[in-house]
Amino acid sequence: MQDSWNPNLYEKFQTERSRPFYDLANMVRRREGMRVLDLGCGTGKLTHYLHRKLAAQETVGLDASENMLRLARQFEGNGLEFKFGRIEDDPVPGKFDLVFSNAALQWLTGHEALFEKLRFKLQPGGQLAVQVPAMNSEPVHILAVETAEEFSEELGGYVRHLEVLRPENYAKLLYKLGFIEQEVRLQIYGHILPSPEAVIEWYRGTLLTTYQQRLDAETYERFVKGYTQKLIKYLGEERPFFFAYKRILIWGRLSY
Ligand SMILES: C[S@@+](CC[C@H](N)C(=O)[O-])C[C@H]1O[C@@H](n2cnc3c(N)ncnc32)[C@H](O)[C@@H]1O
Repeated sequence: MQDSWNPNLYEKFQTERSRPFYDLANMVRRREGMRVLDLGCGTGKLTHYLHRKLAAQETVGLDASENMLRLARQFEGNGLEFKFGRIEDDPVPGKFDLVFSNAALQWLTGHEALFEKLRFKLQPGGQLAVQVPAMNSEPVHILAVETAEEFSEELGGYVRHLEVLRPENYAKLLYKLGFIEQEVRLQIYGHILPSPEAVIEWYRGTLLTTYQQRLDAETYERFVKGYTQKLIKYLGEERPFFFAYKRILIWGRLSY
């Protein structure tokens, strides 16, 4: 399957997308000589920031997109490196003081089992810090699912369902997995975008990439057109457009 992550499109909303990253990074408790794993590190810019902020001894950024990693590699050195691989295959050996993931784990299903696996990547006293969008029950996602159902034949029945738990269920999960300290927050990030159409551009850089991978260029443009028509009907004409984006920030620490 083609790699449809497009760093330019993704970084178009860099300011808006990086705000939750900084909030998540601020939840992490710095310790001397940390070993850090950043899952779904993308273009590496924020991984580089995290590595320096924590003055980490070693940071490994993992991503399954060569397009994204190509940019990330410019930041390598001084204990920071990037690896190609899928989070679910657990390709980076060893244990870490921090497993970090900003806006990536929503692409994986089965969060109970996934978090359990991540917990076992941590040393005693290790921290888990994860941010996931919580937009799966919002019209922007429901209408994408509806559009995918209309293109069922072209997509071979594929529909992207984002599986994100409720905030309280992440809190319960952290407790069950033995995190003796935790903070779980639902936060609304208000983004002022030039127009409702900018919401489509936003999703072209993320959610829609999974459909782009599975469709030829002409069919994908028809897909986006269909999705746009539905979404604009719902979003209205407001300019600039206030985009209320829900995210869950999750932090936990194990005992020593
Ligand atoms: C929305 S971007 C976030 C990038 C970065 N963490 C940031 O905050 O800018 C999601 C990233 O997760 C990566 N990704 C998605 N599913 C993945 C998987 N199963 N294994 C590894 N990387 C994955 C994508 O390639 C993409 O670079």
